[in-house]
Amino acid sequence: MKKNRLKKIVKNIFLNHGLSKSHAEISSNYIIQAELVGASSHGVSRLKMYCDRIKKRLINPKPKIKIKKISQSISHIDANNAIGFVAADIGIKKAIYNAKKTGIGLVGIKNSGHYGLSSFYAEQAVKKKLSVLCFTNAPPAIAPYGSKKKLFGTNPICFGTPTSSKIPFILDTSVSMINRGKIRVAAKQGNLIPENVALDKFGKPTRDAKKALEGVQLPIAGFRGSGLAWMVDILSGVFTGGNHAGRVKDPFDDFSGPQNVGHLFIVMKSNIFVGNNYNKRIKENIKKIKKLPKTQGTKEIFYPGENKYNKYKNNINKNISLTKNIMNDLKNLID
Ligand SMILES: NC(=O)c1ccc[n+]([C@@H]2O[C@H](COP(=O)([O-])OP(=O)(O)OC[C@H]3O[C@@H](n4cnc5c(N)ncnc54)[C@H](O)[C@@H]3O)[C@@H](O)[C@H]2O)c1
Repeated sequence: MKKNRLKKIVKNIFLNHGLSKSHAEISSNYIIQAELVGASSHGVSRLKMYCDRIKKRLINPKPKIKIKKISQSISHIDANNAIGFVAADIGIKKAIYNAKKTGIGLVGIKNSGHYGLSSFYAEQAVKKKLSVLCFTNAPPAIAPYGSKKKLFGTNPICFGTPTSSKIPFILDTSVSMINRGKIRVAAKQGNLIPENVALDKFGKPTRDAKKALEGVQLPIAGFRGSGLAWMVDILSGVFTGGNHAGRVKDPFDDFSGPQNVGHLFIVMKSNIFVGNNYNKRIKENIKKIKKLPKTQGTKEIFYPGENKYNKYKNNINKNISLTKNIMNDLKNLID
């Protein structure tokens, strides 16, 4: 389907579920962006979930979002259970504003929901020549190192910075071996998941996506990944007033209350320490790494974000293809 047509459909679905024009515009925009960077697990496939939660008022379609100024650099947002896209969009814009004024902007957000890809927010800061760190927690998926029980989310860590070329450096990675969305898609389509990414509920390695969802996902790099997941839970949840320690609700399966996801954004002027030398230094840094001798089969060393940018460029004028299941979801949501 053409991207503009799909965006209009998604926007209208949000409007029919009670979102304001601007909130429907923001949310539909992010959903289509996810499709364009090839992250379909965070695209239209999640629309039914968002709508189910709005119908049950677990996502508040008309939130009264409060922004508390703590200092010129620091703001705290209570998103009042807004859809995560809107809460995070307001949050990153505030962090950018604070950073432009003072050199650094710190924004904590509580009472939010699933906000899609962290890179969406990082890109906004980088476009303004700022550097950025984004954290969000997510529902239980990973067992803390040494435990049998899942508790941490796939808790992505995202860092973005301008490169002085048109492709920004955006490292945006889950701390699980693969992100949960990919396992959900595999479960829906009956596909196997890769080896060594999940255990079933008995603690046995599994490639069965459904069993993986019932069991635990494995963190990247053992106790190091578990530690990173924990760090993100503290920054996004403990710090902000959001849910933490396994209490972020699974948006697909747990309708017992709002998710109360927390997000933390730190935005900095890239040139605070080295002034105008920043551009020269980052260019030199990337050039040096790209020129390194390559392993067999590697044509080019990419920096994080290049692959997503290339996918986006490739997809921007193509139709977005949707599975039968998702087309059915769309039809049911329109009716
Ligand atoms: N909101 C949530 O609760 C939530 C939870 C988990 C993940 N997510 C999102 O899911 C998305 C996908 O996460 P993921 O872990 O599957 O990402 P991924 O594994 O696709 O990529 C991770 C990072 O590695 C980089 N990369 C990929 N291939 C590379 C290569 N060949 N050379 C150099 N760098 C390369 C990518 O640019 C990216 O920055 C992220 O955008 C994340 O924010 C969201």
